[in-house]
Amino acid sequence: MAEITLRPMLEPDLLAYKALRDAMLTGHPEAFTSDAETERQRDLASYRSRLAGGLGGGTLFTLLALDGPRVIGALTCEREPRRKVQHIAHLVGMMVADTHRGRGIGRALLAGAIARLQATAGLAQVTLSVTTGNRAAVGLYESAGFTRYGRLPDAVRLPDGRRLDKDLMLLRL
Ligand SMILES: CC(C)(COP(=O)(O)OP(=O)(O)OC[C@H]1O[C@@H](n2cnc3c(N)ncnc32)[C@H](O)[C@@H]1OP(=O)(O)O)[C@@H](O)C(=O)NCCC(=O)NCCS
Repeated sequence: MAEITLRPMLEPDLLAYKALRDAMLTGHPEAFTSDAETERQRDLASYRSRLAGGLGGGTLFTLLALDGPRVIGALTCEREPRRKVQHIAHLVGMMVADTHRGRGIGRALLAGAIARLQATAGLAQVTLSVTTGNRAAVGLYESAGFTRYGRLPDAVRLPDGRRLDKDLMLLRL
């Protein structure tokens, strides 16, 4: 296996990013708020919102994990644009390809994102939401120091009728 590298996502990565994301949304519908069918139909240009400076400056970065040239993991960080809440960042879209799970890549993505956030002036805390019972993700976030500040019941409704809660977590930077 080639060495795993981490780096911010750039425009030429968008096709590979979309392919990974579509596969993850299909394979793990309980883990994500977006649904695979809707997202599969999105055009590539719309994913520019996940590049640094996207969403009108609200996207700080998307960090990619690569195995050689292959995109196998991603994590996006957004920042509140309004002045009174600019000290708060949010992590979204954490994913590691099933072929690469359990090898420390999620941990590396999270550590890389937190280090970047700590180096960003004016940020004080970072939040995320995670489906209650997603043991791999909750375990990962807790081991990085995130704590749960709330739980949203009935947060996500799946086509099969399941209703899932979301744990709301935060880390002071
Ligand atoms: C959650 C996810 C990103 C973790 O990535 P990963 O690369 O497999 O995780 P790592 O190998 O870096 O594991 C880091 C830590 O996470 C926790 N963890 C990972 N897998 C776990 C599992 N199956 N059960 C319990 N804890 C687990 C552990 O604390 C682990 O640390 P350890 O190896 O020292 O015990 C990955 O499993 C994934 O993409 N899952 C599907 C999508 C998803 O759930 N995304 C999160 C949305 S909020």
